[in-house]
Amino acid sequence: MSALLRVDKLVKHFPVQRGLFGRAKVLIRAVDDLSFELNAGDTMALVGESGCGKSTLGRLLLRLLDATSGQVWFEGQDLMAMSATQLRAARRNVQMIFQDPYSSLNPRMTVEQTLVEPLALHGLAEGRHRQRAIELLDLVGLPAQYLQRYPHEFSGGQRQRIGIARALAVEPKLIVCDEAVSALDVSIQAQVINLLQDLRQRLNLAYVFIAHDLAVVKHIASHVAVMYLGQMVEYADKRSLFEAPRHPYTQALLSAIPLPVPGLKLQRVFLQGDVPSPSNPPSGCRFRTRCPYAQELCARDVPQLKLVEGHAVACHFWDTNHVPAVTTTTEVVNERLLRLQQAFSGSVSVQQGTQVHA
Ligand SMILES: Nc1ncnc2c1ncn2[C@@H]1O[C@H](COP(=O)(O)OP(=O)(O)OP(=O)(O)O)[C@@H](O)[C@H]1O
Ligand code: SF4
Ligand SMILES: [Mg+2]
Repeated sequence: MSALLRVDKLVKHFPVQRGLFGRAKVLIRAVDDLSFELNAGDTMALVGESGCGKSTLGRLLLRLLDATSGQVWFEGQDLMAMSATQLRAARRNVQMIFQDPYSSLNPRMTVEQTLVEPLALHGLAEGRHRQRAIELLDLVGLPAQYLQRYPHEFSGGQRQRIGIARALAVEPKLIVCDEAVSALDVSIQAQVINLLQDLRQRLNLAYVFIAHDLAVVKHIASHVAVMYLGQMVEYADKRSLFEAPRHPYTQALLSAIPLPVPGLKLQRVFLQGDVPSPSNPPSGCRFRTRCPYAQELCARDVPQLKLVEGHAVACHFWDTNHVPAVTTTTEVVNERLLRLQQAFSGSVSVQQGTQVHA
């Protein structure tokens, strides 16, 4: 089976002016040599600390940003090489849902206008726009009488459903969800996630699901990709990534998740130091300044993403690293959740401490 989406050596560097009078030019290496594939119907969750390049990658997949180099192939067609007309047609297949549905919906347009606009743009459902708008609302669990209402008349969860309905209007095959449920209350989050899963089954959709919350990822993903400083360090199906993480960074992230068995947890791995600047990443392995297993080779050679038995990892010593052991604990669950949140929420660096491993 050929992949729905194939990303090949994708690079996005942002040149920015720094220094006195903005004279010094630096390159922010937001996405640096990323390659992966995604099949129809799969949900790839993209995780990693704030600023590691998740949203940039999401935008590159729709060519909302032009890449510095590399290719994005969708159903065998190179998105990066398309003319503006070809690109407009191709965008029907790939849609994006953002964190804040309020800013992505036009406040002056009714729900009907919001849903009909993409239909008209792509010449779809000619002569039955209203009927199609009602069908789309029904797909996301909203009644037809909402058609004449405006975005400000809805709750956050309802607005996100309207955003999803608009994305579905053009019958896409892939939806990039950038923190699509992060701003919603937990119970509404669960409803929207269940809706996305239901739609995936009914319409054979594929998702790239960018998320901070590993509990959400565990629920929705079929595959998980872990990013660090613009690069993919691990990519595997959900089960093998959660049960046997190979990269020390993934091991540290997962060690913060509470296990379903009360009193059991993975031994917590604390990462030392802050994430280095994407304008000046460390030589060799980018994770080496925080890695408990770093050796001389790690500063010299860039570890390539190696696929072994369907599980890809970029670490020179992945097969000799130890997976942190499961131990008993009396630690309060909430405190662990708090640490997890900190690990993923950018501005707060991961708490300092002694690194532990089995
Ligand atoms: N337009 C831009 N110009 C310059 N730098 C940018 C631009 N967009 C993103 N960056 C930088 O690229 C890096 C990756 O940003 P990106 O938004 O992709 O991260 P992210 O993983 O989505 O983070 P978050 O979890 O906070 O949303 C960051 O260092 C960011 O500051
Ligand atoms: S390559 Fe070296 S520094 Fe990088 S993750 Fe592996 S052991 Fe750590
Ligand atoms: Mg982002």
